[in-house]
Amino acid sequence: MKALEAEIIADETLPLRESNLVFGEGNPDTEVLFIGEAPGARENELRRPFVGRSGQLLDKLLGELGWPRTDVYITNIVKRRPPDNRDPLPQEIEAYRPYLARQIAIIKPLVIATLGRFAMNYFLPLGKITRDQGKLFPAGKLFIYPMFHPAAALRSTGTLNDFRQSFQKLPAVIAKCRTLKN
Ligand code: URA
Repeated sequence: MKALEAEIIADETLPLRESNLVFGEGNPDTEVLFIGEAPGARENELRRPFVGRSGQLLDKLLGELGWPRTDVYITNIVKRRPPDNRDPLPQEIEAYRPYLARQIAIIKPLVIATLGRFAMNYFLPLGKITRDQGKLFPAGKLFIYPMFHPAAALRSTGTLNDFRQSFQKLPAVIAKCRTLKN
């Protein structure tokens, strides 16, 4: 993982190099990998994923499951902050794609929990977040479990309720994936 991080740092062809690298953090032996969209201002400052308001909600819901944040792995599809918190551009997502693919290959998660539509559409290009969040999709050797983005949950009580419900299903989802895999 350290070698992969060093490669990203050295890759001068990557976009958004004016921002800091937020590579990802956590337990590479996790069964569940959380993938967000791109770092925000706080993440850029601290060089850590999900440490702003969205991260606080993520930490809270992990806490409700009794899962320490350090037990899972958390990263983003785009590993540097787009200016003014704009959405990542398709070419930015493409540029970082091989690095995320290699990060996933190292972690070999059982389930990838995507946070928001950009991370979902990376794996499920035809996915629709309101229709597909909280559902499980097989993807080769692993499963994709789309969830709302915590920032969307912070904007709407209805979305927060759905997000929390999908989050609370995670232990059962993982157990199901274990049986489906075997
Ligand atoms: N939103 C994201 O998608 N990723 C982060 O790391 C923080 C906020």
